[in-house]
Amino acid sequence: MSDSVKILGIESSCDETAAAVVENGRKVLSSVISTQVEEHRKYGGVVPEIASRRHCENICWVVEGAMQEAGLTFADLDGIAVTYAPGLIGALLVGVNYAKGLAFASGKPLIPTHHLRSHVASNYLAHPDLEPPFLCMIASGGHSHIVEVLDYTRFHVIGRTRDDAAGEAFDKAARTMGFPYPGGQFIDKAAKLGNPGAFQLPRPHVAGSPYDFSFSGLKTAVINIVHNAGQKGRRINVNDLSASFQAAVCDIISEKLMAALAETGHQKLVLAGGVSANSGLRARLEGDCEKRGVQFFCPPLPLCGDNAAMVGSQGYYEFLAGNTAGLDLNAVASKKIDIE
Ligand code: KG4
Ligand code: ZN
Repeated sequence: MSDSVKILGIESSCDETAAAVVENGRKVLSSVISTQVEEHRKYGGVVPEIASRRHCENICWVVEGAMQEAGLTFADLDGIAVTYAPGLIGALLVGVNYAKGLAFASGKPLIPTHHLRSHVASNYLAHPDLEPPFLCMIASGGHSHIVEVLDYTRFHVIGRTRDDAAGEAFDKAARTMGFPYPGGQFIDKAAKLGNPGAFQLPRPHVAGSPYDFSFSGLKTAVINIVHNAGQKGRRINVNDLSASFQAAVCDIISEKLMAALAETGHQKLVLAGGVSANSGLRARLEGDCEKRGVQFFCPPLPLCGDNAAMVGSQGYYEFLAGNTAGLDLNAVASKKIDIE
């Protein structure tokens, strides 16, 4: 193997079609993202059938764009990494089948990559010195996990959500407050203008499982406040409600992470997934880590959401670990992060 290992990453697990070329897991040579968010917004959420069709239409030019931007041909690549799990099955299948065709035609190794592992890897692109082991919070639209990243391809989940994911709770609370889909970013903006102490919201615990989350009670509390006010003809101050909701999410997440850091002894905390874009959560975790002398890492905003550079990064480490697949690779809608 040469000193320069170039991996093409392909991502199509939800509503972004993306491709990127990454060198040695750390250097982004190109990155192209085609988002469908405007189209799904009309329906208040991602419509899986529409997502699959758009991936079919977009994947060729997105991959070609990434190769052109990198100034490379397929012969220059060392492998083709693709998100194969978890995600919307019809959406995943487009990327997986495209990658299989490309691997067959070019004779390059096919590298199946787990979407949540890739979110963790978005941090490797931004922080050249970051190496496992570390504790990681993955908070996305579909998942909320506290994970020990033992090595680049070894993970140990110590907590997960029992109901809604953090991003899902943001999006549902936002929808109730009248914000467009996906509403996390709108709550983030509104929260900056509001009073976090204005509404008393619950911080639910899961009995007997200190690191598991339950966000649905918090979400329901927001829905009840908005509906009760509506029935009485009163207007809600959405800035205050956003600030109160975000403060509750930050309390819940930070409290569990600080306890997990104390118990596991990790000296580094990493935030990943779409919700890592939340300014309140980033500031809160940064402050709480500083108090404990723990190093805090989070991705720059362009790498928080779904992208393929993170797939190219994680794909590199999967490749080094020998995790390649044959042309019988299938997409998988649900798959744990810590099982091969
Ligand atoms: O990781 P991601 O892009 O897609 C999945 O793999 O699910 O995460 C999307 C989630 C959405 O729920 C979105 O509302 C949330 O990330 N999100 C945010 C912010 N930006 C995106 N949540 C809170 N604050 C934000 N600034
Ligand atoms: Zn994601």
